[in-house]
Amino acid sequence: MKRTAITLAAGFAMFGIGIAHAADVAKGEEVYKQACFACHDAGVAGAPKLGDKAAWEARLAQGEAILDKHAIEGFTGEAGSMPPKGGRTDLSDQAVKDAVAYMISKVK
Ligand code: HEC
Repeated sequence: MKRTAITLAAGFAMFGIGIAHAADVAKGEEVYKQACFACHDAGVAGAPKLGDKAAWEARLAQGEAILDKHAIEGFTGEAGSMPPKGGRTDLSDQAVKDAVAYMISKVK
């Protein structure tokens, strides 16, 4: 009986994480459309385009945590310069992470 409860709890915890992640991507799409698309849709100023797997491959290899950090704090690489939060410093860190999750979902 106890074991069943633990298994159920673990199951729900995993389910919860799954839901939260899906919600993040949905929220991230909204953020993207407001704050990121201006550069990332067309590849302005060297920005890796949304859905361009080749442009994202090496970036993805860094891991999501680094991508989040670069999107939040800004990042100047070989291609150009990513302003902190895409210039939208009014956005929460979580909103930017959601947008990164959305961008990643388009190249996976
Ligand atoms: C003013 C143009 C501009 C806007 C707006 C912008 N970006 Fe970028 N972004 C760039 C450029 C340019 C790069 C590439 C920098 C490089 O690698 O040289 C980049 C790179 C990135 C990267 C990859 C970083 C890495 O480590 O390779 C992520 C993730 C990213 N942007 C997320 C976002 C998100 C999320 C938003 C919206 C909140 C956003 N960007 C808005 C220009 C922009």
